[in-house]
Amino acid sequence: MNSVNRWAWVEVDLGAIKTNVAALVKQAGRAELWATVKANGYGHGAVEVARTALSAGASGLCVALADEAHQLRQAKIVAPILIVSEQPEVAFEQMLGDQVVATVYNEATINSYAAAAKRLGVVGKVHLKVDTGMHRVGVPVASAIARVEQINALSSLQLEGVYTHFAAADLPSHDETAKQQQRFDDFVGELDRKKLRPKFVHTSNSAAVLRSLNAATDLVRVGIAIYGIAPSNETENVASRLRPAMSLHARVSHVQWLAAGEGVSYGLRKKLDSAANIATLPLGYADGVPRRLWSVGGEVLIAGKRCPIIGVVTMDQLMVNCGGIDVKIGDRAVLLGSQGDEVISANEIATRLETIGYEIVCGVSARVTRVYVENRN
Ligand SMILES: Cc1ncc(COP(=O)(O)O)c(C=O)c1O
Repeated sequence: MNSVNRWAWVEVDLGAIKTNVAALVKQAGRAELWATVKANGYGHGAVEVARTALSAGASGLCVALADEAHQLRQAKIVAPILIVSEQPEVAFEQMLGDQVVATVYNEATINSYAAAAKRLGVVGKVHLKVDTGMHRVGVPVASAIARVEQINALSSLQLEGVYTHFAAADLPSHDETAKQQQRFDDFVGELDRKKLRPKFVHTSNSAAVLRSLNAATDLVRVGIAIYGIAPSNETENVASRLRPAMSLHARVSHVQWLAAGEGVSYGLRKKLDSAANIATLPLGYADGVPRRLWSVGGEVLIAGKRCPIIGVVTMDQLMVNCGGIDVKIGDRAVLLGSQGDEVISANEIATRLETIGYEIVCGVSARVTRVYVENRN
Protein backbone atom coordinates (compact mmCIF):
# COMPACT_ATOMS: atom_id res chain seq x y z
CA MET A 1 0.00 0.00 0.00
CA ASN A 2 2.90 2.33 0.71
CA SER A 3 6.65 2.10 0.92
CA VAL A 4 7.03 3.22 4.53
CA ASN A 5 9.70 1.18 6.24
CA ARG A 6 7.69 0.92 9.40
CA TRP A 7 4.35 -0.37 10.62
CA ALA A 8 3.11 3.11 11.43
CA TRP A 9 2.40 6.09 9.22
CA VAL A 10 0.33 9.24 8.78
CA GLU A 11 -1.94 9.47 5.79
CA VAL A 12 -2.71 12.98 4.49
CA ASP A 13 -5.68 13.18 2.15
CA LEU A 14 -4.91 16.07 -0.20
CA GLY A 15 -8.33 15.61 -1.79
CA ALA A 16 -9.88 16.55 1.56
CA ILE A 17 -7.71 19.67 1.75
CA LYS A 18 -8.76 20.63 -1.78
CA THR A 19 -12.45 20.17 -0.96
CA ASN A 20 -12.14 22.10 2.30
CA VAL A 21 -10.26 25.00 0.70
CA ALA A 22 -12.77 25.23 -2.16
CA ALA A 23 -15.67 25.34 0.33
CA LEU A 24 -13.90 27.94 2.48
CA VAL A 25 -13.04 30.11 -0.53
CA LYS A 26 -16.75 30.19 -1.29
CA GLN A 27 -17.60 30.96 2.31
CA ALA A 28 -15.03 33.78 2.37
CA GLY A 29 -17.05 35.62 -0.25
CA ARG A 30 -15.14 38.54 -1.74
CA ALA A 31 -12.18 38.05 0.64
CA GLU A 32 -9.07 36.24 -0.56
CA LEU A 33 -8.23 33.05 1.33
CA TRP A 34 -4.65 32.81 2.58
CA ALA A 35 -3.97 29.29 3.84
CA THR A 36 -2.16 29.04 7.16
CA VAL A 37 0.58 26.42 6.79
CA LYS A 38 2.78 27.22 9.78
CA ALA A 39 4.15 24.39 11.95
CA ASN A 40 4.69 22.23 8.88
CA GLY A 41 1.11 22.73 7.77
CA TYR A 42 -0.27 21.87 11.24
CA GLY A 43 1.69 18.62 10.98
CA HIS A 44 0.37 17.72 7.52
CA GLY A 45 3.38 18.91 5.47
CA ALA A 46 3.71 22.61 4.61
CA VAL A 47 4.82 22.32 0.99
CA GLU A 48 2.23 19.70 0.00
CA VAL A 49 -0.59 21.56 1.75
CA ALA A 50 0.50 24.92 0.31
CA ARG A 51 0.54 23.59 -3.26
CA THR A 52 -2.82 21.88 -2.78
CA ALA A 53 -4.45 24.92 -1.18
CA LEU A 54 -3.18 27.22 -3.94
CA SER A 55 -4.48 24.83 -6.59
CA ALA A 56 -7.89 24.87 -4.89
CA GLY A 57 -8.29 28.64 -4.86
CA ALA A 58 -6.16 30.02 -2.02
CA SER A 59 -4.43 33.28 -3.02
CA GLY A 60 -1.67 33.36 -0.41
CA LEU A 61 -0.11 31.61 2.56
CA CYS A 62 0.54 32.42 6.21
CA VAL A 63 3.40 31.08 8.33
CA ALA A 64 4.84 31.82 11.76
CA LEU A 65 8.57 31.90 11.02
CA ALA A 66 11.03 33.29 8.48
CA ASP A 67 12.43 29.79 7.92
CA GLU A 68 8.95 28.42 7.24
CA ALA A 69 8.55 31.02 4.49
CA HIS A 70 12.02 30.16 3.17
CA GLN A 71 11.12 26.46 2.94
CA LEU A 72 8.13 27.36 0.74
CA ARG A 73 10.25 29.61 -1.48
CA GLN A 74 12.86 26.86 -1.85
CA ALA A 75 10.04 24.61 -3.05
CA LYS A 76 9.45 27.23 -5.78
CA ILE A 77 6.16 28.44 -4.35
CA VAL A 78 5.73 32.01 -5.57
CA ALA A 79 2.42 32.98 -3.92
CA PRO A 80 2.39 35.79 -1.31
CA ILE A 81 3.51 34.61 2.14
CA LEU A 82 2.57 36.52 5.28
CA ILE A 83 4.68 35.87 8.37
CA VAL A 84 2.23 36.54 11.19
CA SER A 85 4.61 37.86 13.89
CA GLU A 86 7.72 40.03 13.95
CA GLN A 87 10.97 38.12 13.42
CA PRO A 88 14.48 38.75 14.78
CA GLU A 89 16.61 41.22 12.86
CA VAL A 90 19.02 38.48 11.82
CA ALA A 91 16.25 37.06 9.59
CA PHE A 92 15.43 40.33 7.77
CA GLU A 93 17.70 39.91 4.74
CA GLN A 94 16.43 36.38 4.13
CA MET A 95 12.82 37.60 4.48
CA LEU A 96 13.40 40.45 2.02
CA GLY A 97 15.22 38.11 -0.38
CA ASP A 98 12.23 35.76 -0.19
CA GLN A 99 9.88 38.70 -0.84
CA VAL A 100 7.70 37.75 2.11
CA VAL A 101 5.02 39.98 3.55
CA ALA A 102 6.31 40.87 7.01
CA THR A 103 4.13 41.55 10.03
CA VAL A 104 5.26 44.54 12.09
CA TYR A 105 4.03 46.34 15.20
CA ASN A 106 6.97 47.73 17.18
CA GLU A 107 8.41 51.14 16.28
CA ALA A 108 12.02 49.89 16.43
CA THR A 109 11.31 46.82 14.29
CA ILE A 110 9.69 48.98 11.63
CA ASN A 111 12.79 51.19 11.48
CA SER A 112 15.24 48.30 11.35
CA TYR A 113 13.20 46.38 8.75
CA ALA A 114 13.09 49.56 6.64
CA ALA A 115 16.84 49.97 7.02
CA ALA A 116 17.47 46.37 5.90
CA ALA A 117 15.25 46.90 2.84
CA LYS A 118 17.08 50.12 2.02
CA ARG A 119 20.46 48.36 2.28
CA LEU A 120 19.24 45.71 -0.19
CA GLY A 121 17.68 48.30 -2.46
CA VAL A 122 14.22 46.73 -2.26
CA VAL A 123 10.79 47.69 -0.96
CA GLY A 124 9.52 45.42 1.81
CA LYS A 125 5.80 44.73 1.99
CA VAL A 126 4.42 44.89 5.52
CA HIS A 127 1.13 44.32 7.33
CA LEU A 128 0.59 46.11 10.62
CA LYS A 129 -0.83 43.87 13.33
CA VAL A 130 -3.10 45.64 15.78
CA ASP A 131 -3.81 44.26 19.25
CA THR A 132 -7.52 44.73 19.79
CA GLY A 133 -7.74 42.50 22.86
CA MET A 134 -5.88 39.22 22.44
CA HIS A 135 -2.80 40.70 24.16
CA ARG A 136 -0.25 38.41 22.49
CA VAL A 137 1.46 40.62 19.92
CA GLY A 138 0.48 43.75 18.02
CA VAL A 139 0.45 47.50 18.41
CA PRO A 140 -2.20 48.76 20.84
CA VAL A 141 -5.14 50.35 19.00
CA ALA A 142 -4.32 53.73 20.54
CA SER A 143 -0.90 53.80 18.81
CA ALA A 144 -1.90 52.10 15.55
CA ILE A 145 -2.43 55.26 13.46
CA ALA A 146 1.00 56.55 14.52
CA ARG A 147 2.57 53.28 13.31
CA VAL A 148 0.77 53.53 9.98
CA GLU A 149 2.12 57.06 9.54
CA GLN A 150 5.60 55.88 10.55
CA ILE A 151 5.53 53.13 7.89
CA ASN A 152 4.16 55.45 5.23
CA ALA A 153 7.03 57.86 5.83
CA LEU A 154 9.61 55.14 5.05
CA SER A 155 10.25 54.81 1.32
CA SER A 156 11.67 51.27 1.62
CA LEU A 157 8.44 49.91 3.12
CA GLN A 158 5.01 49.47 1.58
CA LEU A 159 2.06 49.15 3.94
CA GLU A 160 0.00 46.48 2.20
CA GLY A 161 -2.30 45.51 5.05
CA VAL A 162 -3.60 46.05 8.57
CA TYR A 163 -5.03 43.27 10.66
CA THR A 164 -6.00 41.90 14.02
CA HIS A 165 -6.47 38.44 15.50
CA PHE A 166 -9.45 37.27 17.54
CA ALA A 167 -8.86 35.76 20.98
CA ALA A 168 -12.12 33.84 21.28
CA ALA A 169 -13.77 33.46 17.86
CA ASP A 170 -13.95 29.71 18.53
CA LEU A 171 -16.22 30.37 21.53
CA PRO A 172 -19.40 31.78 19.93
CA SER A 173 -20.93 32.83 23.24
CA HIS A 174 -17.87 34.89 24.25
CA ASP A 175 -18.55 38.62 24.02
CA GLU A 176 -14.93 39.66 23.38
CA THR A 177 -15.08 38.99 19.62
CA ALA A 178 -17.68 41.70 19.01
CA LYS A 179 -15.66 44.11 21.18
CA GLN A 180 -12.46 43.37 19.25
CA GLN A 181 -14.37 43.82 16.00
CA GLN A 182 -15.65 47.21 17.15
CA ARG A 183 -12.18 48.43 18.21
CA PHE A 184 -10.77 47.32 14.86
CA ASP A 185 -13.65 48.89 12.89
CA ASP A 186 -13.05 52.19 14.73
CA PHE A 187 -9.38 52.05 13.75
CA VAL A 188 -10.19 51.25 10.10
CA GLY A 189 -12.77 54.07 10.10
CA GLU A 190 -10.03 56.44 11.21
CA LEU A 191 -7.76 55.13 8.41
CA ASP A 192 -10.56 55.81 5.92
CA ARG A 193 -11.06 59.36 7.21
CA LYS A 194 -7.32 59.99 6.82
CA LYS A 195 -7.25 58.23 3.42
CA LEU A 196 -4.68 55.75 4.73
CA ARG A 197 -6.55 52.48 4.15
CA PRO A 198 -4.19 49.84 2.64
CA LYS A 199 -5.09 47.08 0.16
CA PHE A 200 -5.83 44.40 2.76
CA VAL A 201 -7.86 44.82 5.94
CA HIS A 202 -8.23 41.47 7.70
CA THR A 203 -9.33 39.85 10.93
CA SER A 204 -10.55 36.30 10.45
CA ASN A 205 -9.18 32.90 11.37
CA SER A 206 -11.09 29.66 10.69
CA ALA A 207 -13.65 30.12 13.45
CA ALA A 208 -14.49 33.64 12.30
CA VAL A 209 -14.90 32.50 8.68
CA LEU A 210 -17.05 29.53 9.67
CA ARG A 211 -19.18 31.96 11.70
CA SER A 212 -19.30 34.43 8.75
CA LEU A 213 -17.67 37.27 10.70
CA ASN A 214 -15.50 38.33 7.78
CA ALA A 215 -18.00 40.35 5.72
CA ALA A 216 -16.06 43.61 5.64
CA THR A 217 -12.58 42.14 5.15
CA ASP A 218 -10.28 41.66 2.15
CA LEU A 219 -8.57 38.42 3.13
CA VAL A 220 -8.99 35.61 5.63
CA ARG A 221 -6.20 33.66 7.31
CA VAL A 222 -7.58 30.16 7.51
CA GLY A 223 -5.71 27.35 9.23
CA ILE A 224 -7.37 24.52 11.10
CA ALA A 225 -10.48 24.40 8.87
CA ILE A 226 -8.51 23.62 5.72
CA TYR A 227 -7.27 20.50 7.51
CA GLY A 228 -10.90 19.51 8.14
CA ILE A 229 -10.91 20.09 11.88
CA ALA A 230 -13.39 22.27 13.76
CA PRO A 231 -11.62 25.02 15.74
CA SER A 232 -13.44 23.93 18.91
CA ASN A 233 -16.25 21.69 20.11
CA GLU A 234 -18.42 24.83 20.17
CA THR A 235 -17.93 25.35 16.41
CA GLU A 236 -18.50 21.70 15.36
CA ASN A 237 -21.96 22.63 14.04
CA VAL A 238 -20.60 25.16 11.53
CA ALA A 239 -17.70 22.89 10.54
CA SER A 240 -19.64 19.70 9.89
CA ARG A 241 -19.06 19.76 6.11
CA LEU A 242 -15.27 19.76 6.45
CA ARG A 243 -13.34 16.53 5.78
CA PRO A 244 -10.42 15.67 8.07
CA ALA A 245 -7.22 15.29 6.06
CA MET A 246 -4.97 13.54 8.58
CA SER A 247 -5.25 9.98 9.80
CA LEU A 248 -2.78 8.01 11.89
CA HIS A 249 -2.30 4.32 11.16
CA ALA A 250 -0.35 1.35 12.47
CA ARG A 251 -0.22 -2.39 12.05
CA VAL A 252 -0.32 -4.79 14.96
CA SER A 253 3.26 -5.86 15.65
CA HIS A 254 2.68 -8.40 18.44
CA VAL A 255 -0.26 -10.20 20.05
CA GLN A 256 -0.57 -11.88 23.44
CA TRP A 257 -3.47 -13.60 25.19
CA LEU A 258 -3.23 -12.48 28.81
CA ALA A 259 -5.11 -13.81 31.82
CA ALA A 260 -7.27 -11.72 34.19
CA GLY A 261 -5.11 -9.95 36.77
CA GLU A 262 -2.12 -9.43 34.48
CA GLY A 263 -0.72 -5.89 34.24
CA VAL A 264 0.53 -4.25 31.04
CA SER A 265 3.30 -1.72 30.29
CA TYR A 266 5.61 0.26 32.60
CA GLY A 267 4.43 0.33 36.19
CA LEU A 268 1.81 -2.37 35.50
CA ARG A 269 -0.62 0.30 36.59
CA LYS A 270 -3.86 -1.43 35.67
CA LYS A 271 -4.65 -5.14 35.91
CA LEU A 272 -6.83 -6.84 33.34
CA ASP A 273 -10.40 -7.43 34.59
CA SER A 274 -10.74 -10.45 32.34
CA ALA A 275 -8.58 -12.47 29.96
CA ALA A 276 -8.05 -10.67 26.64
CA ASN A 277 -6.08 -10.43 23.44
CA ILE A 278 -3.56 -7.60 23.86
CA ALA A 279 -2.22 -6.09 20.65
CA THR A 280 1.01 -4.10 20.53
CA LEU A 281 1.26 -1.19 18.07
CA PRO A 282 4.64 0.31 17.12
CA LEU A 283 3.74 3.93 17.95
CA GLY A 284 4.64 5.79 21.13
CA TYR A 285 5.10 9.15 22.73
CA ALA A 286 8.16 9.85 20.56
CA ASP A 287 5.70 9.77 17.66
CA GLY A 288 3.35 12.21 19.40
CA VAL A 289 0.92 9.81 21.08
CA PRO A 290 0.69 11.32 24.58
CA ARG A 291 1.97 8.96 27.30
CA ARG A 292 -1.11 9.53 29.45
CA LEU A 293 -3.67 8.86 26.72
CA TRP A 294 -4.41 5.45 28.26
CA SER A 295 -5.54 6.98 31.55
CA VAL A 296 -8.09 9.35 29.97
CA GLY A 297 -9.98 6.73 27.97
CA GLY A 298 -7.85 6.76 24.81
CA GLU A 299 -8.96 4.22 22.21
CA VAL A 300 -7.74 2.70 18.95
CA LEU A 301 -9.79 1.23 16.10
CA ILE A 302 -9.03 -2.41 15.29
CA ALA A 303 -11.35 -4.59 13.20
CA GLY A 304 -13.72 -1.61 13.05
CA LYS A 305 -14.15 -1.60 16.84
CA ARG A 306 -13.04 0.76 19.56
CA CYS A 307 -10.39 -0.89 21.75
CA PRO A 308 -8.96 0.84 24.83
CA ILE A 309 -5.26 1.61 25.14
CA ILE A 310 -4.09 -0.38 28.15
CA GLY A 311 -1.09 0.69 30.21
CA VAL A 312 1.08 3.75 29.71
CA VAL A 313 2.10 4.63 26.17
CA THR A 314 5.83 3.91 25.92
CA MET A 315 8.35 5.77 23.77
CA ASP A 316 7.93 3.62 20.67
CA GLN A 317 5.02 1.26 21.36
CA LEU A 318 1.61 1.05 22.98
CA MET A 319 -0.71 -1.79 23.92
CA VAL A 320 -4.41 -2.16 23.15
CA ASN A 321 -7.00 -4.36 24.85
CA CYS A 322 -8.77 -6.12 21.98
CA GLY A 323 -10.91 -8.29 24.30
CA GLY A 324 -12.09 -11.34 22.38
CA ILE A 325 -11.25 -9.96 18.90
CA ASP A 326 -9.20 -12.47 16.93
CA VAL A 327 -6.41 -9.98 16.23
CA LYS A 328 -3.30 -10.97 14.27
CA ILE A 329 0.13 -9.52 13.61
CA GLY A 330 -0.15 -7.20 10.60
CA ASP A 331 -3.80 -6.22 11.23
CA ARG A 332 -4.60 -2.54 10.58
CA ALA A 333 -5.17 -0.14 13.47
CA VAL A 334 -6.29 3.48 13.36
CA LEU A 335 -5.43 5.94 16.14
CA LEU A 336 -6.86 9.00 14.39
CA GLY A 337 -9.37 8.70 11.57
CA SER A 338 -11.96 6.14 10.55
CA GLN A 339 -12.22 2.39 10.21
CA GLY A 340 -15.51 0.79 9.25
CA ASP A 341 -18.25 2.89 10.81
CA GLU A 342 -16.14 4.17 13.68
CA VAL A 343 -14.32 7.51 13.73
CA ILE A 344 -11.79 8.91 16.18
CA SER A 345 -11.46 12.64 15.50
CA ALA A 346 -8.67 14.98 16.56
CA ASN A 347 -11.18 16.84 18.70
CA GLU A 348 -12.26 13.61 20.43
CA ILE A 349 -8.66 12.90 21.46
CA ALA A 350 -8.18 16.57 22.35
CA THR A 351 -11.25 16.63 24.57
CA ARG A 352 -9.97 13.60 26.49
CA LEU A 353 -6.64 15.35 27.01
CA GLU A 354 -8.24 18.73 27.78
CA THR A 355 -6.60 20.36 24.79
CA ILE A 356 -7.54 21.30 21.21
CA GLY A 357 -7.43 19.42 17.91
CA TYR A 358 -4.61 21.72 16.72
CA GLU A 359 -2.26 20.25 19.33
CA ILE A 360 -3.11 16.69 18.36
CA VAL A 361 -2.23 17.07 14.66
CA CYS A 362 0.76 19.35 15.29
CA GLY A 363 1.99 16.86 17.86
CA VAL A 364 2.46 13.92 15.49
CA SER A 365 6.23 13.96 15.32
CA ALA A 366 8.47 14.14 12.27
CA ARG A 367 9.46 10.50 12.93
CA VAL A 368 6.15 9.36 11.45
CA THR A 369 6.29 9.37 7.66
CA ARG A 370 3.51 11.32 5.92
CA VAL A 371 1.96 9.42 3.03
CA TYR A 372 0.00 11.61 0.61
CA VAL A 373 -3.17 10.30 -1.00
CA GLU A 374 -5.87 11.93 -3.14
CA ASN A 375 -9.32 11.17 -1.76
CA ARG A 376 -9.21 8.41 0.79
CA ASN A 377 -12.83 7.33 0.49
C1 LIG B 1 -2.39 35.51 13.31
C2 LIG B 1 -3.05 34.22 12.94
N1 LIG B 1 -3.94 34.21 11.94
C3 LIG B 1 -4.57 33.08 11.56
C4 LIG B 1 -4.33 31.88 12.20
C5 LIG B 1 -5.08 30.66 11.77
O1 LIG B 1 -5.93 30.25 12.80
P1 LIG B 1 -6.90 28.99 12.64
O2 LIG B 1 -6.02 27.80 12.52
O3 LIG B 1 -7.71 28.98 13.88
O4 LIG B 1 -7.69 29.22 11.40
C6 LIG B 1 -3.41 31.85 13.25
C7 LIG B 1 -3.16 30.60 13.96
O5 LIG B 1 -3.00 30.51 15.12
C8 LIG B 1 -2.75 33.06 13.62
O6 LIG B 1 -1.87 33.07 14.63
